[in-house]
Amino acid sequence: MHDFNYKHNDLYCESVSVEELARKYGTPLYVYSRNTLISHYRKIKEAFSPINPLICFSMKANSNMAICKVLVKEGSGLDIVSGGELYKAFKIGVSPRKIVYAGVGKRDIEIEIAMRHHIFFFNVESIPELELINKVAGKLGIRQKVAIRINPDIKARTHQYITTGHGENKFGVDFETARKIFLGKQKYKNLNISGVHMHIGSQIVDAEPFIRAMERIVNFIKDLETHGVSIRWLNIGGGLGIIYSNEKPQTAKEYAKAILPIIKKTKANIIMEPGRFIVGNAGMLVTRVLYIKETPSKNFAIVDAAMNDLVRPSLYGAYHEILPVKSHSYSNSKEIKDFDVVGPICESGDFLGKNRKFIDLKEGDLLSVMGAGAYGFSMSSNYNSRPRVAEVMIEGSKARLIRRRETYEDLIRTEA
Ligand code: LLP
Repeated sequence: MHDFNYKHNDLYCESVSVEELARKYGTPLYVYSRNTLISHYRKIKEAFSPINPLICFSMKANSNMAICKVLVKEGSGLDIVSGGELYKAFKIGVSPRKIVYAGVGKRDIEIEIAMRHHIFFFNVESIPELELINKVAGKLGIRQKVAIRINPDIKARTHQYITTGHGENKFGVDFETARKIFLGKQKYKNLNISGVHMHIGSQIVDAEPFIRAMERIVNFIKDLETHGVSIRWLNIGGGLGIIYSNEKPQTAKEYAKAILPIIKKTKANIIMEPGRFIVGNAGMLVTRVLYIKETPSKNFAIVDAAMNDLVRPSLYGAYHEILPVKSHSYSNSKEIKDFDVVGPICESGDFLGKNRKFIDLKEGDLLSVMGAGAYGFSMSSNYNSRPRVAEVMIEGSKARLIRRRETYEDLIRTEA
């Protein structure tokens, strides 16, 4: 995270002072480092360069067009999960040949539009969906490439809401069902069922569950080959964990070293769908302290950002480091106190951090919630009729507004 640094006592993003950004654009404010974004993308690209995979950035992590454009310019494709993401992907200008489309509940209209634009792959999650895609392809006279998403029944140690490759999860199909689909694939006349897809969960910090899942998938592919079915594409999903506090996640290089020998056993071309690894630590949420409230049992720093702006702490109990934008060096005259950092929303679950130590924290101070680039803005809402916040991207000493702050008029724009 070398692009978020203190210079003397002031927090900077690249060469821009965060205090100045707050003054110019207001708070709460998402701030992204373009340099971090690019360097994390390149880390994956370089680690996997021996096999030159198609990297499709997972848009759900952050679908801001400016962010996606930076990655697309670097050569990235996009992993989408909805008609809305498809629409944005076209506006971003990514080649349709670099779009892969996952999700358990694709609607017929979404399928049709994606197909009319010749996206690369549908990652199919059930037999009824396969049948629908086959039907739509027939109607359009297209032979569509699809991958079958396999649920390898692996438990990855991560939050229960973000594990996806265990038998109890709604995602993908089991090996037996997948086998039946591949062995009977001529039945789907309009489909070229030539890929296997997996994604076992998110924020996975060690390679072991990936290794187990991939070994199972590769054995499955080898077995299909003995039956004359060849798999041309293997999509290994995303899921790489990042550092929020004291995690020690595998690096892109370690991940590649662990899994390359396994995936090289197949002749398949590789697709990857990283989200968080690329954008997570490229963004932070800047917020201002509105009040300091001291009660007999707790101290609260009530800030202007809330769970509607960053829901991860409330929803997953996720930890995000919170840094003062002006740091105080420790001296005896300064007081260190514990605070719960909470927002203005009318719910006790509205917090950004609990029991955080700050020196001499006072009203008007700025705080930065770190690691907020992935699943931060993209999961934000208008709860409590709060306008969604602005986003800026920093490139060296330049700041660019990449989303204007919503106004009160925006709040009622779509209402009767
Ligand atoms: N591919 C598929 C099919 C996915 O479902 C996901 C994420 C990804 C790729 C990207 O995963 P990543 O590399 O970012 O781990 N809101 C949660 C995370 C949900 C992840 C959903 N799927 C959070 O804030 O932790």
